[in-house]
Amino acid sequence: MADLLLGQVLSFTGDPFLMGPEAARHESHGAVLVEGGRIRATGPADALRAAYPQARVTDYGRALISAGFVDAHVHYPQTAIIASWGKRLIDWLNLYTFPEEMRFADPAYAEEIATRYTGLALAHGTTSFCTYSTIHPASVDTIFGAAQARNMRIWAGKTCMDRNAPEGLRDTAQSAYDDSRALLEKWHGVDRLSYVITPRFSPTSTPEQLAALGGLWREYPDCLMQTHLSEQTDEIDWVKGLFPQSRDYLDTYEAQGLLAEGAIFGHAIHLTPRERARLKESGASLIHCPTSNTFIGSGLFDMAGLKAEGQRIGLATDTGGGSSFSMLRTMAAAYEVAQLRGTALHPSQLWWLATQGSAQSLRAGHLIGNIAPGMEADLVVVDLASTPAIEQATRRAGDIWQAIFPTIMLGDDRAIRATWVGGKAT
Ligand code: GUN
Ligand code: ZN
Repeated sequence: MADLLLGQVLSFTGDPFLMGPEAARHESHGAVLVEGGRIRATGPADALRAAYPQARVTDYGRALISAGFVDAHVHYPQTAIIASWGKRLIDWLNLYTFPEEMRFADPAYAEEIATRYTGLALAHGTTSFCTYSTIHPASVDTIFGAAQARNMRIWAGKTCMDRNAPEGLRDTAQSAYDDSRALLEKWHGVDRLSYVITPRFSPTSTPEQLAALGGLWREYPDCLMQTHLSEQTDEIDWVKGLFPQSRDYLDTYEAQGLLAEGAIFGHAIHLTPRERARLKESGASLIHCPTSNTFIGSGLFDMAGLKAEGQRIGLATDTGGGSSFSMLRTMAAAYEVAQLRGTALHPSQLWWLATQGSAQSLRAGHLIGNIAPGMEADLVVVDLASTPAIEQATRRAGDIWQAIFPTIMLGDDRAIRATWVGGKAT
């Protein structure tokens, strides 16, 4: 049976960084027709009601219907250590992250956190995410299993580390290759699941491990490859010491076959001109993690400059280095970080980044991240007056962007009225 969702409908015909706010389409009394897991039609409510009289109607009133949020960089195993106090990147990894990731040797714990994380993501309107796991292959099985049970489109991969990590969290070049390959063969392309080759970052991988994973990627080029790049200056100095032959941080990946379209680099804050040029040429994606970059004290991502030079950019929470599961909070942080660099991002740009921008960064912009006929029916319904503080700020809104911006800046999971995944309300 078809479902007809009524509300204010927000979609995009292009990238608002290129086209301005006119890239967004807003239907004040709009509708989205969903059938068989896909969006069949969208347009004015009256027209769609007349055209599809048999459809089951859900009227969301003045709430905003959008593509579900796409979180392009998360560590689901860090769900329970979100908001851990007082450390910068390397100490934060050693003190909080690695001990927590050790617990994933127990598949029952991995299962508990995978279930908890997917529930939290959906409660925050996030319908797709691209996640790291731990070095334990079962931690990949558990997150894919949890997403499969909810029919979510997700990306996940086994985190590979063969040095500079504690005993119990290290694999080898060969076992990383073998385990990643087995997981890829098991899960990639099953239902809405995609495997992503995942060396954690250069400090925790030997050149041999990076080369082995580069070789795996050559065998399976339709997979994505995710890692971290130039997040903190101390980290960059460490990489220089570990890879004296490399021209820069990016070169540690490039030299091993890990720079191409489909490479997803988290953070990418402190980049050299050569790195920027090579990232652009290769068609790789950069993922902005603004709540993490302020929380861990990493730095200010150059959104305006990187978009102007044509880089492909997605947006992400970086759970649990980031301080929120909410892509609304993440948009707010992206706005504030851009302000600190002298640019006020328009709400259309922020919303695009959290939906279609992230989807494109994962090479899935034709499947998710927008409302258009034929696309997968992953939707979020956002209450634009979800708290008294937001409601009073929107009362005088003169246009849709003034109505949306207070929710971007002040909203969280209380603003999520409904989340639809694969054409079904969750
Ligand atoms: N760099 C390497 N691993 C991590 C991680 O887990 N979180 C963040 N924020 N940066 C990293
Ligand atoms: Zn990360």
